This record gives sequence, C-alpha cells and structure tokens, in this order.
Amino acid sequence: MVQTAGLLLGLGLTLVAVVLHFARGTGWQAGDDISRDVLERRAASVPETDFPEPYNRGVGGGAPAGAIAAGESEAEIEDSDSEDAGFDPDAIEEVEYYEIEFTKEGKTIEVASNETILEAGEDEDWDLPYSCRQGQCLSCAAHIDDGPAEEFVRHSNNDTLSEEEMDNGYCLTCVAYPTAEFTIETGEQP
Ligand code: FES
Repeated sequence: MVQTAGLLLGLGLTLVAVVLHFARGTGWQAGDDISRDVLERRAASVPETDFPEPYNRGVGGGAPAGAIAAGESEAEIEDSDSEDAGFDPDAIEEVEYYEIEFTKEGKTIEVASNETILEAGEDEDWDLPYSCRQGQCLSCAAHIDDGPAEEFVRHSNNDTLSEEEMDNGYCLTCVAYPTAEFTIETGEQP
C-alpha cells in the first residue's frame, strides 16, 4: 500500500515538472536572419565587369556567336546586340502573304509575313520537326532551294545558323518569317 502511494506521488510530481517545463518554454530564441547580409557581402566581393552575361553557364556557358572581343567600344557592343536580336514579328503592321512550296509535303501554301514557316506547316497538320522553337537548336532546320535564306525569310532569333549556312539556303523554320515566295525542303540540316 505504501509502495503504491509512493509510486503515485512520484508520478504526480513528474507530471507537474513536465507541465511546468512546457508551460515556461525552453527560453530559446531564433537569432537575426543574416542571409541577406551574407548575400550582399558576397555580391560586393565580385568585381563589376562590362562583359555581357554568358547565356548559360550551367551547361558550359561561354559567349554566344558574335561575342564581343576585348577592346571593342560600347557603341560597337550595342550595334552587335541589335543585329543579333533579330526583329519583332508583333511589330509588323502590314501583313503580306507569300506562296511557299513545300517540296517534301507536295503542296504550295500561303504563309503570312507574321507567321513562321513551322506554324504555317503545322496549320496544315504536317508533322514537321522541331524542339526548342526559339532558334536555339537545329531540329527545325530546312533548306530554301532558291538561294541565300536571308533573301526569302527573316529570323526573329537565330543562335544556331552561321552566315555561311544561311547563305547556303538554310533557315530555322520555328523563327523564320517569309519576305518573298520560295521553295523549301523541310527536315534538312547543314
Ligand atoms: S526548333 Fe530549335 S531552332 Fe527551331
């Protein structure tokens, strides 16, 4: 009997101690958030440069085609950027239409000057090749049979084809907008 009473008393005291402990809390407080300070200090330690940001450091980086050589003036840098930027198809005010013959598909269709060759082909339900749709790979490349590509299309962006390849008639259909009539072979890469 005495043992049971002692056990109950012990349990009761333990319970009271636990309740008091949690009711009071541990007294621990989180310190100030220093992550912003750390970031600012690290940013301040990196020297400023005038070099353009590489496109994608995660996959090897490096400057894009036509990168700026050391020593070129700022004006030259701006000129080069605007050339690489292509044109904005949304800025076309007067839409024109051109007859384009797709030899492999065996059909001639009308393509608007504010529509890409790829989009026009897809409207015909043709299964044309593509991947990035941004002028950054070669999946959608095609060959214009009539001469240098730039005489027949404008690219809104082109990070892939060289001048020589375009002179040889190659274009990227996902970013190529027609400016004249021509014959094209889809699925052709330089
Ligand atoms: S799909 Fe990649 S460049 Fe056209």
